[in-house]
Amino acid sequence: MDNDVLRQAPLFSGMDDEAATALRESMSETRLRRGEVLFREGDAGDKLYVIMEGKVKLGRTSTDGRENLLAVQGPGQMFGELSLFDPGPRSATVTAVTDTTFLSLSHEDLLRWLEGRPAVARGLLTQLAGRLRKANDVVADLVFSDVPGRVAKALLDLSDRFGRTADDGVHVNHDLTQEELAQLVGASRETVNKALADFASRGWVRLEPRSVVIMDVERLARRAR
Ligand code: CMP
Repeated sequence: MDNDVLRQAPLFSGMDDEAATALRESMSETRLRRGEVLFREGDAGDKLYVIMEGKVKLGRTSTDGRENLLAVQGPGQMFGELSLFDPGPRSATVTAVTDTTFLSLSHEDLLRWLEGRPAVARGLLTQLAGRLRKANDVVADLVFSDVPGRVAKALLDLSDRFGRTADDGVHVNHDLTQEELAQLVGASRETVNKALADFASRGWVRLEPRSVVIMDVERLARRAR
């Protein structure tokens, strides 16, 4: 398994090799196929997870059945710690968007691990602070930005994590359906499709199934502001 991926996880940042190996050995591996659910919003939870390969979506469902995606996460990213630090049920449903491999650590082992390791605890706080900052941006965008602006921002955010630069632009294999992209942006599929088609007609992006090529990052970034 790729130790470089593990090193990106906040849990492992600032740890020497010996400590990282010891922690890795107390974690167990889980694999999901595309579409399988790891856990559901409301479940009791006693583990946190680090993604080693693949992608997951973190979603919530309204009482009338509509779905919203809080985030899409990929290799090196971590989730499942909220129900430890703020004891309560799982705050989101986690579903594999592609075949995915995780390492998991029980909350009990994590607490034991944090004792006397302030650098690791700081890494986790940094992640939580970053998430709160991002969640604030999402709320502000829902209030202040139009749908095309939110679509532009979502594409750039996906590109930061999953983009690969090539001669013809940044290839972003997000692996999301148009419905899932719409759930991530918090708008209807029709409105999101219209925004994407508009960006494509201007030559800013090229649309491909479950992927997009960003050909004009600057214009897209200007539209996202
Ligand atoms: P937990 O509530 O245990 O299970 C669902 C997990 O999703 C949660 O812990 C967090 O790790 C993660 N999560 C919840 N909200 C967000 C968010 N807005 N952005 C990214 N991750 C989140």
